[in-house]
Amino acid sequence: MKMFLVKNYEELSRKAAGILAAQVISKPNSILGLATGSTPLGTYANLVEWCKNGDVDFSNVTTFNLDEYAGLSEENDQSYRYFMNTNLFDQINIDKAKTHVPNGKAADLTAEGLQYDQMIREHGGIDIQLLGIGHSGHIGFNEPDDVFVGSTHPVTLVEQTIQANARFFGSIDKVPTMAITMGMTSIMQAKKVLLIANGQDKKEIVEKAFYGPITPKVPASILQLHPDCTVICSW
Ligand code: PGA
Repeated sequence: MKMFLVKNYEELSRKAAGILAAQVISKPNSILGLATGSTPLGTYANLVEWCKNGDVDFSNVTTFNLDEYAGLSEENDQSYRYFMNTNLFDQINIDKAKTHVPNGKAADLTAEGLQYDQMIREHGGIDIQLLGIGHSGHIGFNEPDDVFVGSTHPVTLVEQTIQANARFFGSIDKVPTMAITMGMTSIMQAKKVLLIANGQDKKEIVEKAFYGPITPKVPASILQLHPDCTVICSW
């Protein structure tokens, strides 16, 4: 594992974007695993700028996002599909048909998850997976549990996650309590993993995840076993 502590959010965002851009430049048909949340916003802003300048070409890139809230349609401005369209896909030269987000409106989220994993496998797996980390230690929406779940699967969000995400919904009652998330198999099989964590409030969980015991009670701790994991932090 490579762990970088950089001086501020701007530097974190530039460094993370640099790693993703290098991936796309060296392999134009890369399969990127992408994340939502407030942390990747600066990373995506850099990629948008570099794409507009003609320095990075996304026309052959395919993406798979980590997760989606259950029950939210693509048009809902709180859905992760909407987030990705607004903050990245609509601003770069990517073919929208090559961008994938789990369908939170699927009638059977378990079946949707299995199909999502199948699609990732058919593309040969993910080249680089971008991750944030939640205060609960979650990656994607893999919340603390008794076991690490492999497949893309439906989850019940923990209170801490619902509270953390209430800021985006205006009120806690509006936060969905269920989601669908990529599981540990696709994340751990990604050739590279890049986790970004910003802010003093993430320090404790990052230390637990990367220097504590490997346990499904701290889902991100499984990344200690990944052969090519880079962590970029600023606090
Ligand atoms: P954040 O979320 O980037 O908004 O802090 C991270 C996460 O929950 O994975």
